[in-house]
Amino acid sequence: MDIQAWIPAIYLVAAVTFVLGLKGLSGPATAVAGNRIAAAGMLLAVAVTFFDKTFRDHGPAALWLTLGGMAVGAVAGVAGGRLVKMTAMPQMVALFNGAGGGSAALVSILEHLHAAHGGAHPGWAGVLSTVLGLMIGAVSFSGSAIAFGKLQGIISPRAHKYLGQTIVTVGVFAAMILAGLALVADAAGMMALGATAEMWLWVLLALALVFGVVLVMPIGGADMPVVISLLNAYTGLAVAMAGFVLNNHLLIVAGTLVGASGTILTRLMSKAMNRSLANVLFAGVGAAAGTAVAQKGDDTRAAREVSAEDTAILLGYAQEVIVVPGYGLAVAQAQHAVRELADLLESKGVNVRYAIHPVAGRMPGHMNVLLAEANVPYEKLKDMDEINDDFKDTDVALVIGANDVTNPAARTDKSSPIYGMPILDVDQAKNVIVIKRSMRSGFAGIDNELYLDAKTGMLFGDAKAAVERIIAELKKAA
Ligand code: TAP
Repeated sequence: MDIQAWIPAIYLVAAVTFVLGLKGLSGPATAVAGNRIAAAGMLLAVAVTFFDKTFRDHGPAALWLTLGGMAVGAVAGVAGGRLVKMTAMPQMVALFNGAGGGSAALVSILEHLHAAHGGAHPGWAGVLSTVLGLMIGAVSFSGSAIAFGKLQGIISPRAHKYLGQTIVTVGVFAAMILAGLALVADAAGMMALGATAEMWLWVLLALALVFGVVLVMPIGGADMPVVISLLNAYTGLAVAMAGFVLNNHLLIVAGTLVGASGTILTRLMSKAMNRSLANVLFAGVGAAAGTAVAQKGDDTRAAREVSAEDTAILLGYAQEVIVVPGYGLAVAQAQHAVRELADLLESKGVNVRYAIHPVAGRMPGHMNVLLAEANVPYEKLKDMDEINDDFKDTDVALVIGANDVTNPAARTDKSSPIYGMPILDVDQAKNVIVIKRSMRSGFAGIDNELYLDAKTGMLFGDAKAAVERIIAELKKAA
C-alpha cells in the first residue's frame, strides 16, 4: 500500500483530534478525555511521518536512532507526569516548552545548512521561515530555561532590574532583527553576504538566546506562569515555521493551534489579574510577595484570632459553607485534609461547596487540579461568577491559604495594584474564617482589609495542620 496517498487524510484526522483535544481541555470533567484524544492523534501523526519519511529516505539505520529518541522522550514524559509534584508543574511545563522551542530552532538551522551545503537555494521566503523559526524557537528555549531556573530556585526569583535595562533589551532585539533581515536580504539577492552567510546564522542564534535571557530575567518569579504561557505561544509559532521549512502541513496546523491557544491563555491570565501584558513583562511586579503588611496610621482595628475548636463549633452549626482555596493550600498540600473536612461536615448535613477564582494559586486551573487530585466532585467546584451571589446566604466562608483573590480593596481602593480585579465576595458571608500562617501579604504584596473585619476570625498555622486540627475537634465533639 502506498502510504504517501493517505498522508493528507491522516494528517487531517490528527488535526481534528488536536482541536477536539483543546475543546476537551476547557473543562475539568472532559480534560482527561481531551488530552487522550489529542495524544492519540499525535501518535498517529508521528507514526505515519516516521514510516513515510524516515524509513523511506534513510532506511532501517534511521529506525533505531528514531526509536531511541522516542523512547527517551516517552520515559521523560511519563516520569515527569507521574513523579513531579503538582506544585512543581509550572517548571515542568517550562522545561518541556523550552525543549519544543529548542527543537524548532534546531530543525530550522539543520534544514538551512542542509540546503546550503547541498547547493540548493530555498529562496527568500524559505529563508524567512528559517529565520523566524530559529529566532522564536531560540528565544523560547532560553526564556523557558530562565523561567524554569526561577521557579526551581536555581536562579533568584526576584525581578532582576538594572540601570539601562530597556536599552539592553531593545538593543539585543534590534540586533537580532537586523541579523535576520540580512539573511533574508541575502537570499533575495538584495545584498551579498557570500561566505559569511553561515556565520550570520550563528550570530542570529546567539542573539536570540541572549534576548530570551534579557527578556525573562527582569520579571518576578511569581509572574512566571504568564511568561511560560507567552513562551508557549512562541514555541507554537516556531513549530509552525518549522512546518513551512519542512513543508509539513500538520506541523503548521499544530504550531498555529499552540500559538493561538497560548496567546489566548496569556491574555486571559493577564486580564484575570487586571494587568496588561506589558505590565507583566516590564513592571517587575511580584518581587515584594510575602512581605509583612504595616497597619495604617489611624487604623485601630486588630485581627481577631480564633482557635481550631472555635472554628469546628462554627462549622458544625453551619448549614452552608463555602471553601475558598488559594496558593497557601497548594503550598501546604492540604487538599486531602480539606476533602476529609468537607466529608465530615457533609455527614453532619452541612452543604459544602468550593469557590474557584480564575487566578487563585500560581497557574491556570491550579485549584481545580489540586482538588480533583483529592477526588472532590467536579459539581462542588464553582467558578467565581457562578458562586459570588451565594456568599451573602453562606454561614461560613472558609478561606484556606487565599489572600489577594479575596481582597475587597480590589473593589474600592483606586490606588491598589489589584483595583478592578474581580474578587470572590467572601466579605459578604455571615462569618469568615481565614487559615494562613501570619498577617503577611500574598502575591500582590498588599494589605487585606478582610482580616480586620469584625466577622473574620484568623486561624493561624500551616493550612494542612490547621485543617487537621479542625477535623480532630469535630471528631471530638461527635
Ligand atoms: P496569594 O494572594 O499569593 O496568597 C496566598 C497566601 O497563602 C499568602 O498570603 C500566605 O500567607 C498563605 N500561605 C502560604 N503558604 C501557606 C501555608 N503553608 N499554609 C497556610 N497559608 C499559606 O494567593 P491567592 O489568593 O491564591 O492569589 C493568587 C495571586 O497570584 C493573585 O495575586 C494572582 O494575580 C497571582 N498570580 C496568579 C497566577 C495564576 S495563573 N493563578 C499567575 C501569576 C500570578 P502566610 O504567609 O501568612 O501564610
